[in-house]
Amino acid sequence: MSNSISKESQYQEMLTFADSLIVKGDHLISIMANVSALVYKTFGFHWVGFYLVDNDILYLGPFQGPVACTTIPFGKGVCGDSWKEKRTIIVENVDLYPGHIACSSLSRSEIVVPLLSDREEVFAVLDIDSSELASFDDIDEKYLKLLCGMICKNAK
Ligand code: SME
Repeated sequence: MSNSISKESQYQEMLTFADSLIVKGDHLISIMANVSALVYKTFGFHWVGFYLVDNDILYLGPFQGPVACTTIPFGKGVCGDSWKEKRTIIVENVDLYPGHIACSSLSRSEIVVPLLSDREEVFAVLDIDSSELASFDDIDEKYLKLLCGMICKNAK
């Protein structure tokens, strides 16, 4: 419980900082670069980054962490599924997720949050990988959705 409380306050502090960091009209890639650095530094996750939609693939965008796969097809892996299903996906154990794309053998759990346009189309996903099992829960989902909403609202 105390763990959850401290995670919530870390997220709240992070969102306050993100609010000052995300300036309306900034370029999407610049915002994504700063947001991936912010989440990575705040929580020390294994990998934090964005994939962006281009026709029928996701391509690697700004990230922090080890090098990663450059493209992911629609409906493949956790990112491709999140894009297809337009929903946040939390994976407690990536080894048990059918079709998981292993960019790093150190990833054990992950969360993927889609970013939707005004027309409710996914234009990118936020992908966060942890080197520990079951790192993500509804608290992460709640605050990461708020963070992604701030990006969608402000990016040029
Ligand atoms: N975890 C992803 C692949 C991207 S890397 O983890 C950075 C997936 O299965 O969608």
